[in-house]
Amino acid sequence: APEVVTEIGELRARLAGRQVALVPTMGALHAGHLALVERAVELADVVVVSIFVNPLQFGPAEDLERYPRDLEGDLAALADRGVAYVFAPPASEMYPDGTPQITVRGGAVGELFEGRSRPGHFDGMLTVVAKLLGIVRPAFALFGQKDAQQLWLVQRMVRDLDIPTRIEPVETVREDDGLALSSRNRYLSPEERKAAPVLHRALEAAASAGDRGIDAVIAAAQSVLMGEELVSVDYLKVVDPRTFRPVSDDYRGPARVLIAAQVGPARLIDNDDLYLN
Ligand code: PAJ
Repeated sequence: APEVVTEIGELRARLAGRQVALVPTMGALHAGHLALVERAVELADVVVVSIFVNPLQFGPAEDLERYPRDLEGDLAALADRGVAYVFAPPASEMYPDGTPQITVRGGAVGELFEGRSRPGHFDGMLTVVAKLLGIVRPAFALFGQKDAQQLWLVQRMVRDLDIPTRIEPVETVREDDGLALSSRNRYLSPEERKAAPVLHRALEAAASAGDRGIDAVIAAAQSVLMGEELVSVDYLKVVDPRTFRPVSDDYRGPARVLIAAQVGPARLIDNDDLYLN
């Protein structure tokens, strides 16, 4: 079973001189997180899973207080999976002075899509990821494709700030009915849970319209989403994976469809790749 470490100095002492893969999480671990852990074990001798519900990335009206916390359950989920350390610091260890003076900004892409709906979210996320990379100094850090904009911004941060960690993307893990695993799925009522896979069906419809152009892609996804009364779409966008900006009307090539929707009390996001031609 992994050893739980709560202090930065203690973790650094344990990791000194070792090659590490880091899996940053906010806990309430599910099979999506475990796919990251599995890949981490392939990449490095020492695997660290961080579990920290980062207050800096939650807006004032968001779910920080009710975000699921279950360290015991998380440790049980990580037993016998090759994880050496769980880093689970209290907020006072990560932010001893309260809100930090110096933070990372996500720039223009940080203000699109998720960033538009959740002001400050990506700045808070990037700041804690920068801190975790500074604390652990991992050779590899693993991030899920499920949070595609987060992954893009983290890749961009390590490039722009010359952080010597390789960011490894991991494919989205889904339930049998296509719903992407998420710690927030537990907020769903049985009816809402039944409606939620419409996000994935919309992504599939979008992908199969890829050879009929961007308008057809959006229309195909929209018509699937409209079939679910319990799902209210926040945004539906197609982006160029290199720039994470919306594609132009005449764009051809690889692209990514992004969906965010409110389903009862839960805000769900999903995405998939498609080819526009
Ligand atoms: P959290 O939501 O706990 O997610 C931790 C990691 O698991 C992220 O890289 C996320 O993309 C990945 N993940 C979540 N669901 C997944 C799924 N169904 N399939 C594959 N990967 C999945 O994302 C965060 O925490 C935080 O923003 C964090 C990066 C830890 C910074 O606080």
